[in-house]
Amino acid sequence: MIGKIEGTGAYAPVQIWDNNRLAELVDTNDEWIRERTGIVKRHVAEEGETTALIAAKAAEAALENAGVSAEEIDLIIVATTSPGNLVPNTACEVQHLIGASHATCFDLNGACTGFIFALNTAQAYLAQGIYSNALIVGAECLSNLVDWTDRSTCILFGDGAGAAVLRAVEEGYYAQMTHSMGSKGSVLTCASRNKRLPGARMDSGAQDPKTFLHMDGGEVFKFAVSRMPEAIKELLRQEQTAAEEIDYFILHQANARIVSAVAKKLGLDLDRFPMNITEYGNTSSASIPILLDELNQAGKLKRGMKLVLAGFGGGLSYGASLIVW
Ligand code: UT7
Repeated sequence: MIGKIEGTGAYAPVQIWDNNRLAELVDTNDEWIRERTGIVKRHVAEEGETTALIAAKAAEAALENAGVSAEEIDLIIVATTSPGNLVPNTACEVQHLIGASHATCFDLNGACTGFIFALNTAQAYLAQGIYSNALIVGAECLSNLVDWTDRSTCILFGDGAGAAVLRAVEEGYYAQMTHSMGSKGSVLTCASRNKRLPGARMDSGAQDPKTFLHMDGGEVFKFAVSRMPEAIKELLRQEQTAAEEIDYFILHQANARIVSAVAKKLGLDLDRFPMNITEYGNTSSASIPILLDELNQAGKLKRGMKLVLAGFGGGLSYGASLIVW
């Protein structure tokens, strides 16, 4: 058995902050952000708009697109680094919101590679015949983790969610390649907000700065432009597939310059590397499924097309999947 993507969906908060809005908060400007990242605007959750709520909206859209009811879903995996709660997990909240009463639900934190890990995990359950239908979601409210006084990070990230419904079918194809590099973890960090000394008062002081997203941007950039092409080449070699056979490379949207550099390293035209970072910024685990849904809704994906999905990020981690649409 193999999991076939039957439908996709996406949702982003309606509140939009353009680059000029950020220039009111930190010493930056529209020109710098556009040139160095490709980002023009990002969606930002409003108070009360939780990771689970936006995940549920993306999930409902994916179910509708797939023509599958919430009751038919056996498994929900939410990839997120920015859950609203640690307990219950976001997937259980989504289950409750959409009425997927028969599903087994858990979260997975794989940072920006999260959606690839979620897809692999769902595929493993479906391939084993344990479940028939799975809903996977990448959802982030990164605006909660960003330090809005730090121009090196706050201009990059945005909020959003993307989802896919997988159905187990007899005949199909799926291949993947993932790697983790824990020794490089300090390059991209965000400490837990739940660390207190035993017995410390609840109201003991300001938020620890370590609990905001910190990044050595240059190091992450170098890591991304070297490891992503490597992973893609490794996967294609393993699957004896030429890069020219791939219709679209759907890469994690972290920086338009990273996507361009990966295309160049693979020796391929940029038109096979769709981008929507302009509209969303970096939405971490949500960026790949949001882009996948955008292509699907635009009618650009035809059955039989070969797609590579690839991500990289905190951990550090990176990985790629090869699917036949
Ligand atoms: O999802 C995975 C996580 N993250 C990533 O993938 C991010 C990967 N890294 C990047 O995308 C880029 O490294 C950044 C966009 C974060 C930074 O771009 P950069 O081209 O590496 O810029 P830089 O950090 O080398 O800074 C260049 C200059 C510096 O000024 P000086 O020293 O040349 O005078 C910075 O102080 O730009 C300055 N700068 C800014 N200026 C205006 C840094 N941030 C800003 C800003 N606005 N927001």
